[in-house]
Amino acid sequence: MSKKFYITTPIYYVNARPHIGHAYTTIACDTIARRHRMLGDDTWFLTGTDEHGQKIERAAQAAGKTPQQFTDEVSAQFRALWDRMGLSYDDFIRTTSERHKQGVQALWRKIRDNGYIYKGTYSGQYCVFDELYVDAVGPGAPCPLCERPTETVHEENYYFKLSAFQEQLIRLYTEQPDFIRPETRRNEVLSFVRGGLRDLSISRSTFSWGIPVPDDPKHVVYVWLDALANYITALGYGSADASKFNKYWPADVHMIGKEIVRFHCVYWPAFLLAAGLPLPKGITAHGWLLFEESKMSKSRGNIVRAETIVDVLGTDALRYFLLREVVFGQDGSFSFDALVQRYNSDLANGLGNLASRTLTMITRYFKGEVPYPSHAAHTAADQAIEDAAKKAVADFGTLFDEYQFSRALEIAWGLVSAVDKYIVENEPWALDEKKDEESRARLATVLYTSAEALRIVTALAHPVMPTATAKIWVQMGLGDIKTFDLTQLQWGQLHLGTKLGEVQAVFPRADKSAVERMQKMEEQKIGGTASVGTDASPVPPSEARPPAAPKASAAIPDGKISIDDFAKVELRVAQVKTAERVKGADKLLRLEVDLGTEVRQLVAGIAEAYEPETLIGRKVVIVANLAPRKLRGLESNGMIVAASPEGGKPVLASFLEDVPLGTRLK
Ligand code: MSP
Repeated sequence: MSKKFYITTPIYYVNARPHIGHAYTTIACDTIARRHRMLGDDTWFLTGTDEHGQKIERAAQAAGKTPQQFTDEVSAQFRALWDRMGLSYDDFIRTTSERHKQGVQALWRKIRDNGYIYKGTYSGQYCVFDELYVDAVGPGAPCPLCERPTETVHEENYYFKLSAFQEQLIRLYTEQPDFIRPETRRNEVLSFVRGGLRDLSISRSTFSWGIPVPDDPKHVVYVWLDALANYITALGYGSADASKFNKYWPADVHMIGKEIVRFHCVYWPAFLLAAGLPLPKGITAHGWLLFEESKMSKSRGNIVRAETIVDVLGTDALRYFLLREVVFGQDGSFSFDALVQRYNSDLANGLGNLASRTLTMITRYFKGEVPYPSHAAHTAADQAIEDAAKKAVADFGTLFDEYQFSRALEIAWGLVSAVDKYIVENEPWALDEKKDEESRARLATVLYTSAEALRIVTALAHPVMPTATAKIWVQMGLGDIKTFDLTQLQWGQLHLGTKLGEVQAVFPRADKSAVERMQKMEEQKIGGTASVGTDASPVPPSEARPPAAPKASAAIPDGKISIDDFAKVELRVAQVKTAERVKGADKLLRLEVDLGTEVRQLVAGIAEAYEPETLIGRKVVIVANLAPRKLRGLESNGMIVAASPEGGKPVLASFLEDVPLGTRLK
């Protein structure tokens, strides 16, 4: 029987455009949801936008728009970005939607009818930024959360009897130590609640951008009661159809940033207890993404947009970086340098390289079919890889399920490095040259072992990097990774004789210009996709939707490309080392060219223009980041650049001055 699993992100304020701080929470939840789906759990992943309250009303005013217009636009930007990033949410809730409004009013009535709401007058300080009633005294007193000056509020409103829940909450935190994770947050909450709880004002009457209080529409519901309720209104609480609510509630985890712990761990369980509803099973708080040493936020003006990273390195790179680099639960710094460094070391040179070298060798030495390992040729080195892979499967799962993503990934990448070393030490290329039976058996064993370890890392990493791992899976001839049952992952499942697909690089190396490009894009705020729309209805799983196409920057006229588009083409100087004709193909030459850091095989259509011997030693220009393709059974890793006159013979691009190998043309 499959288990149900319900996970939520906070719903994001629409006073500002999304940035990678928001993406961080959503990516973490997406990764967890994907792992649960792979484990066969009936998973529901909710995200959305928080659109009411004074802060949003003022932001709309400042933008010269009505609150509805403004929230429609920014909410659509969040959703468009999540779609572009392929985030697999099952539902997107907006607090301005009718279904949410009905659910909030139903919750209010329930709490009221149970005797936990009364009318009073609030006189004191309020922080509009955090939408928080503050205990501080005197006009302008700083908010304890954000330190901004608070505003004095004097109004009649409704109160919630929060004080009635103090003992129950303390019992909850002590009897269920996992209710709040990590422990540091639990201790903070415990001491806050032990310090005494005062009743909470839960309506406002001096502005109108909110959900009207049932039977008293002069008041709107306090924005945090409104927002927290999204976790149940999205499941149909208070509507005629309670099937989702009955199936998925209580949530298995509410994932939040550490600054909203009090709202989730004190107010929310108290509201639910007052309504007689089950409590979520757990609340996990992560730390902040810092940029230039402080919390990334619009008000500090230090945000980085996800679109920039997605445009230059792809979504998987951002996902991997955030989960590998930041210790989940703690604050972590973001920098473009660290991102590119991680990308190159762990993805381009790590998993990407392991995949392409292993699969290329199987293609070359075994006609693209997974070879049969020989028991007789089995060595301690093979066994060590097998043992490491088995241990990785077990440890990765345990760490991941504790949300220790960076340690889980460290374990999986430990296996990647072990296999790399194993390949270097066992020299399959040398075994291939020997051609005797024993070497052939050894070659088969080494490549089988490498491919099996690659399969295991790929399956484990799929929730973290869905796109690249799906590609590797196809290249391994294993079909659609989404249908793979992760509970069955074990060593030795790679079927002998599996026919590989076409081998292509999944993580092309990024050079230094990647950092500059991203920095420039952020300075100029170019690129990106956020589009404007007004659809507030629930959405089907995003896997069913095609990802939104990247939009060209508006400033670029039709038919032109941006400098960033050009920069994607990696032109480099290379020297021809080997040149020979390709049998049966009049136009093709097989070349080996030296890029200074590596020697590559290319297949070029220049045989009618050049005798192979005349090319040896010649410096040429190649497109170095072209996806590999096969011509006449030979893999071509790049393209040689030539002037190609209509009807005439190609003329190779070359230099009058001497240029070092590998130099980039820009
Ligand atoms: N609307 C409320 C949440 C209501 S949930 C019932 C809110 N919105 S928010 O947009 O300000 O922030 C929401 C979440 O975004 C944070 O809790 C956190 O998960 C994430 N982050 C926003 N900035 C962040 C960083 N700089 N770093 C990490 N996460 C950040 O609070």
